[in-house]
Amino acid sequence: MSESRRRELGAIWTYFGEHECGDYSPLYRRISQTVAMTDAVLDLILEAPPTSHQPNVLLAAVHSLVLDGLDHPLAAVYSGDSDADVGPLFVDVCLSRRVEILALLATRHTNNNEVGRSAVIGPALTAVAQRWGAPLGLVDVGSSAGLNLFCDRYLLDYGTYGTTGPDDAAVRVQSEIVSGDAPIAARLPEIRARVGLDRDPMDLTGEHNARWLLACIWPDTGRLARAREAIAEARRTPPDLVQGDAVDDVTAILLGLPTEVTAVVVTTWVLAYLSRTRRAEFHEMLAVASRTRPIAWVSAEGIGVVDTFSGITPPIDANRTDASLLGLVSFVDGQATPELLGFVQPHGAWIDWRA
Ligand SMILES: C[S@@+](CC[C@H](N)C(=O)[O-])C[C@H]1O[C@@H](n2cnc3c(N)ncnc32)[C@H](O)[C@@H]1O
Repeated sequence: MSESRRRELGAIWTYFGEHECGDYSPLYRRISQTVAMTDAVLDLILEAPPTSHQPNVLLAAVHSLVLDGLDHPLAAVYSGDSDADVGPLFVDVCLSRRVEILALLATRHTNNNEVGRSAVIGPALTAVAQRWGAPLGLVDVGSSAGLNLFCDRYLLDYGTYGTTGPDDAAVRVQSEIVSGDAPIAARLPEIRARVGLDRDPMDLTGEHNARWLLACIWPDTGRLARAREAIAEARRTPPDLVQGDAVDDVTAILLGLPTEVTAVVVTTWVLAYLSRTRRAEFHEMLAVASRTRPIAWVSAEGIGVVDTFSGITPPIDANRTDASLLGLVSFVDGQATPELLGFVQPHGAWIDWRA
């Protein structure tokens, strides 16, 4: 492999370790630092399709082997039972299981469906119901496996701000309100209809997909147990998922919702997958559909991703460099009214409420 391609890829891993893992995942930060300096692993990655050069794919591939019962000391580090240096162990697994890993890199991409985001969606739905009334009809665009369609079945725990949802819920999500008067209600507004739309909806009935979804979760971030429970629930009562495109197919779903519900479109960390032009078209689709019925659009997306909120940046806080923006756009008769709801951590760990 050429030295320049190695160095380029090494720089991606270094950046990933420092800025994306940081203190949130010391385990993956250490692995990333090691991979960045290990030519044999960089060469392995460079053999895979370019879409798998993104660090999350190799990390998920190795995690998937661990979840499959890999007999290696790395497994004890991932489960928190060993504090051995994870870097060399990770390298050893990559090199000793290179055939299986390359097969995964060739066929899989990161599949993300983060139930922690229900903690962010919850207060946003309460805010929508306060403005427009319930019951709600929820359309989760880019829903992946649809786990957040069941946000009202999870216990959302906001510490001193209280909890939302059933006390005996199997799925329990912790979140912190770091500032603001977030509307934390004992129950979410009634969700009478719920549909997920995704270009590649993830069917969890098969064991392979469920395992891969778990493999995409970073092991030391405390999210595996709740994801397992959410997957088990989704298998008992599978969500209604439509395969289709965010722009081309959202209108038909919205217009098919029961007439008595408040139509709510939710996008969580999806729009970055659409080009700027397609994002503008998505906005336009909602505006046009709102000539038939009012539509509330709740978005939780990276800063600058939703054009309507461009120019709004979170307060500079060294501990919160990864803030995303939670917004509400109300569409009525083709007119869009934006409202900043707050800034949020991408996995729902904290909310800085601004509305
Ligand atoms: C990062 S995942 C987020 C999944 C989920 N919203 C969550 O927060 O856990 C992005 C999802 O958007 C979907 N997606 C990307 N582009 C899309 C499009 N044009 N139309 C529909 N879904 C799309 C992907 O298939 C993937 O499931």
